Order: sequence, then structure tokens, then C-alpha cells
Amino acid sequence: MDRAGALEVVLPTIHPSEPWECSGRWQAYGPEMMRLTDRQGREFCLGPTAEELMTITVSRTAPSYRDLPVNAYQIQTKFRDEIRPRFGLLRAREFRMMDAYSFHADEGDLSRTYEAMHNAYLEISRRCSLETRVVEASTGLIGGKESHEFMVTSEIGEDVLVFCPSCDYGANCELEKHRPGRGFGGEGRPLEEVSTPDMVSIEDVAGFLGTAPESVLKCVLYVVAGEALAVFVAGYREVTEAKLAMALGTDDFHVMRDDEREMFPAITPGFTGPVGLSGVRMLFDEEVKGARGLVTGANKVDYHYRGAEEGRDFTAEPAADVAGAIEGDLCPTCEGELKMARGIEIGHIFKLGLKYSEPLAAMFTDRDGQPKPMVMGTYGIGTSRMLQTVVEQHHDDGGIRWPKAVAPLGAQMIIIATEGGGQPEAAEVAERELAERGIEVLVDDRDVSPGIKFNDADLVGLPVQLIIGKKLPASGNVELKMRYTGERRDVPVGEAATAIERALEEAP
Ligand SMILES: Nc1ncnc2c1ncn2[C@@H]1O[C@H](COP(=O)(O)OP(=O)(O)OP(=O)(O)O)[C@@H](O)[C@H]1O
Ligand SMILES: [Mg+2]
Ligand SMILES: [Zn+2]
Repeated sequence: MDRAGALEVVLPTIHPSEPWECSGRWQAYGPEMMRLTDRQGREFCLGPTAEELMTITVSRTAPSYRDLPVNAYQIQTKFRDEIRPRFGLLRAREFRMMDAYSFHADEGDLSRTYEAMHNAYLEISRRCSLETRVVEASTGLIGGKESHEFMVTSEIGEDVLVFCPSCDYGANCELEKHRPGRGFGGEGRPLEEVSTPDMVSIEDVAGFLGTAPESVLKCVLYVVAGEALAVFVAGYREVTEAKLAMALGTDDFHVMRDDEREMFPAITPGFTGPVGLSGVRMLFDEEVKGARGLVTGANKVDYHYRGAEEGRDFTAEPAADVAGAIEGDLCPTCEGELKMARGIEIGHIFKLGLKYSEPLAAMFTDRDGQPKPMVMGTYGIGTSRMLQTVVEQHHDDGGIRWPKAVAPLGAQMIIIATEGGGQPEAAEVAERELAERGIEVLVDDRDVSPGIKFNDADLVGLPVQLIIGKKLPASGNVELKMRYTGERRDVPVGEAATAIERALEEAP
């Protein structure tokens, strides 16, 4: 962070409501914000993030263009009243974040800091031995210019990323761009109504009609502000609701529930198609344009059309990119085939522009002596979430395998004392010698069985284990175990500290 030009500060954890009211987020943040009232009845929140506080803090220094850029960060506890806290540190209500905020005279200067922070985050995740992919991220309905997420692929990840193995394209599935990899529709043919008794699912209809599932047009029914909306996508795709929200300009919608169906008599659930449908709002995925030979609902119970053709039998208007990618789609920037993976978001960087500086009147004095709002960036990396992500990527059946950069201590010493064997004394010497080398150890001198000690040492997962046990009196040797590889070696007790130091150098 220092090399990226950021200065460390600490802001309060309890924020007054006023700046949040100015930015509009006192209302907009909703129930995720934990609110409290002091003895005078003034309102506060437990800071979920600190754009507002940092903006007023920096603007009070009344900067001129000469003082900019300013980039300030803190490592501070955050509180968010998450709906579904889960996976321990991955989604907690109280967590730690290293959050930074940058202030600039213009967009070009913001871009330089944005890139420096992007590189710093990649370097941080590399040092923590995390394999990280940077993907384009949604700036949401709130807007903002550009945003990237730092994703660690993991099966338990809550996000889905789409990426190209042939180039560096990657995006959150909420805003991914794809080029269809397989043709949608079939041969052109006349429109024909066919009886499809009880056939509602894509597979049933395609199987019954003996057509490929590629030719079925899927309809997903939504309710948008009390009105029905029929969304049409290729039968092998799903609607991406984040894209739908962007297309509709609102996220106030939901999939039509069974009990809502009778409110919309124009709709025949399970048999809805765009041919001859009237009185219902429609939205088409762009892939539907120009498609022929489609199987669609005939807006009549137990009937479908076969051979429907866009442009001839219906018009795919309005159309938007609302369908999700599938593996095998083509990359938007090269000829590669897209892949998908689940990911844990560990960091997020965002070009904010004037979103906070305008409402909070965070001005600087420009060259011409005029006050202008500062252009801002915001950056957050989850220091507590990262710890758990490291554990997700670095463990085996026995427990954690800490990479040394994030291991809480360098080594664990397991003492298995035998009658008059001198193990506790040897351990004390080794501990002192290690301390002189700046290596802190966890000493397990509990009065429990060796088996428990070995298992617990694997579970805790420090990079190196030093076992001072029954070999000592006979051979003068102690045993070193590398947690990462499981490799064991005997070393003379007098060389234990040096051996551990060297083992730590080799450890990942
Ligand atoms: N509830 C939480 N528990 C632990 N870490 C979190 C939590 N919420 C956010 N973070 C961390 O803080 C970073 C920056 O916060 P940001 O506001 O961008 O997260 P977010 O978009 O709300 O994350 P998510 O989509 O997972 O809720 C995230 O990338 C993540 O590492
Ligand atoms: Mg969140
Ligand atoms: Zn590509």
C-alpha cells in the first residue's frame, strides 16, 4: 500500500449520520446498516464502509491541485448486518477490511492510482499464496465508471465468474459478455401449431417434437412493479437477473409466483410464446434476433408452435443482453472458448468519479483558482475474508497448511517427554535460539498423548513442526516435519534452530 502511494490513517468505527444523509446513503443503504442513537438522541451507524467519512476528512484539508492525488487507507473493523452471515470469516457481520480512498484533480490521475492499487492488490494476494483472477465487475444501478473484483476460485465461492483461458478476459457473471458458441434455432420452415399435451419443460417439449433443445425458445415470467413481463432467451440459457435489472433500470422485480398467475389472464403459464401474444410486456435476449425454426409456446394450454421465425412471426423488440453465458460460448475479445468457475471475492476496486464529492461538496482549488469537486476512487480488500480464503486454498484432510507469509507463527514445537530424557530442557534452548533468529514458536507441552499433539499440530498448520521426543536421549536427534509436503528429517538437537530457519526459507 505504501508503494502504491497510500497513507495509513484510522477513522472512527461509529459514524455520524449527517455525511451519510448528504450522500443519500443513510436511506439507500437499508437494513444492512446497523444504526444507533447516543444519549442526546443523535443518530450514528457502525461503519460498513467509509467513503463519506474519508471524503469529508480529506475535503477539510482544503486541498489545491498541488496536494493531489491523496490516497488514504485504513485497516479497520466494519459492520454490516448481512442477511445471511455464513462460512465463518467469509461472510461475517463484523469483519476487517483494508479500505482505501483516493482523491484526484481529473480522471487521468485517478486512472494512474487505480492501476497502482490494482497492482498492489495482486501483489498482496500473490504474497498470501492466493491464486487470484481480476474480473470486470458490475457498478450496479448506482452507476460509477469502472470496477474490478479480485476473485479466488473456489467451489464454495458465492460469485460466478466467466473467463477466457486464451486471453485475460474475465468478468463477473452479472455483466459478462459472450458470443454464442452454438447456433440457436434450426432450419427455416413454415409456422405450425402442434399439440404438446402436458409438455412444459424444455426437455419434454424438445423430446416430444423430436427437435434439438437448441431450437426451443425459453420464456421466463417476471412481475415488474405489479406488471407482467415475459423474458425470452435461448432454451439452453438462464436469465441473468443483474443484467435484467440493468436493462429494466430497476431491481424491483421477481419471478412470477404461482399465486400471482391469475392476476395476468393474458398469460398461459408453461405455454407462453411471442407469436400472437398481446397485452403482455416482452423482452428478448439479443441472441433471439434472426433466429428461425424455433419451438415456442402457442399461448394456449397444451400447444406449441414449431418453425417460429423472428422477423416473420414475431419481432424480438425490445432486445437486450439478459441471458447468461454457458461454457463453450466464445470470448468477446478473442477466439477462445469461455469457461466458468465459482469464486470468492477478496477485493474490489471502483472508479467513483464525482459520486460522493459532489453531494458532500468535497472541493479542491484547480490551477485556475476555481473550486472543483475531486474525482474519487475507492478500494477494499477483506483482510479477514482473505485469511479464510487462504485456508480454503491451502488445506488437506489433516487441517490448515499456512503459507509462511500469513502463518501466525513460524513453527510448532511438540515435546514428548520421556523419563529423564531431557526433552523440556532441549526445547527451552531451541525456543531461545529461535527467538534470537526472530522466529516465534508455539510450544505444545500439554500433558496429552503424542497422537493428539501430532493431530493438533497438523490442524493448526504452522509451516514447520519440531518434534522433540524419544529419539533425543539415544541419538541426540530431533525431528523436523514440513507441514506443506509432509517431509520429515532428523537433525541433531543443537542444529534445530538453524534447520528450522532454513526449512522456513524453503516453505511456500
Ligand atoms: N460480510 C463480510 N464478511 C467478510 N468480509 C467482507 C464482508 N463484506 C465484504 N467483505 C470484504 O470486503 C471487501 C470489499 O467490500 P465490498 O463492499 O466491495 O464487498 P461486497 O461487494 O459487499 O462483498 P459481497 O459481494 O461478498 O457482499 C470484499 O471484497 C470482501 O473481501
Ligand atoms: Mg456485500
Ligand atoms: Zn479471450
